[in-house]
Amino acid sequence: MSDNALYTDLSGYYDLMCADINYQAQSNSAHRFHQIFGNGGKRHLDLACGTGPHIQHFQYEGYECSGLDINQPMLDLALQRCPDGLFTLGNMCDYTTAEPYDLITCFLYSIHYSGDLKSLKNCIESTHKALKTGGVFCFNSVDKNHIDNNLSTKHSVDYENSVFSFGSSWFYRGEGEKQTLKLSIDKTTLDQTQQWTDEHPMVALSFTELQNILAPYFDVHVFEHEHDKIAAWDQLSGNAIFVCIKKENAN
Ligand SMILES: C[S@@+](CC[C@H](N)C(=O)[O-])C[C@H]1O[C@@H](n2cnc3c(N)ncnc32)[C@H](O)[C@@H]1O
Repeated sequence: MSDNALYTDLSGYYDLMCADINYQAQSNSAHRFHQIFGNGGKRHLDLACGTGPHIQHFQYEGYECSGLDINQPMLDLALQRCPDGLFTLGNMCDYTTAEPYDLITCFLYSIHYSGDLKSLKNCIESTHKALKTGGVFCFNSVDKNHIDNNLSTKHSVDYENSVFSFGSSWFYRGEGEKQTLKLSIDKTTLDQTQQWTDEHPMVALSFTELQNILAPYFDVHVFEHEHDKIAAWDQLSGNAIFVCIKKENAN
């Protein structure tokens, strides 16, 4: 099994795995941040868009949406969900756009898929170039120093006569620029259980390091990872929402 099965062979199960995520609240929160900090424009790009759940909500808010993802099976599902969306196969660490955007988002910690610091910097630089004047880049992130290797989440869903159990956990070995997202799927039909596990290599960094990487390109505001209210990051939480406003003269 590849380290990426969930986004390829098993992509049909992705939305089941995310059934508990409140995509509407996440999208509303980014929309509010854009209303407060942004330029009022409606051209939106979702990086690592997956099956397009955020795009569906942004379209409802009147945005003209595009999605970029590195796995075609995820984009196929996104297009089924959002036939009016424009979906492109590509790497968020090396992309260009014909027309710039007003708002670029990247959710579910997907910016960490950049994999290493050099690629993360490329992603940030590409995103800066892809934004219009006053454009906003909004994403969530996890601080490597707050990862608890003993924590994991698990939930189960009944679907088509099977019970699916999905697990996820972060792993950081305490040093370096790599962390892992471990995902597992158990599918039980009658008394037969099939199991899959994915290990996704991701970039690890602290929020201080992340702010320093962003600072030449953006005015950066960091908020608590709450989607129903706006609260400045308390400097303690290990999850946060980054709202980055394009600086015209990146230095
Ligand atoms: C956890 S899913 C998030 C999908 C969606 N944003 C959501 O919130 O449900 C991560 C997505 O990132 C995509 N991905 C991973 N590495 C990528 C890269 N370098 N460039 C673009 N997409 C990438 C995967 O294919 C997958 O669809």
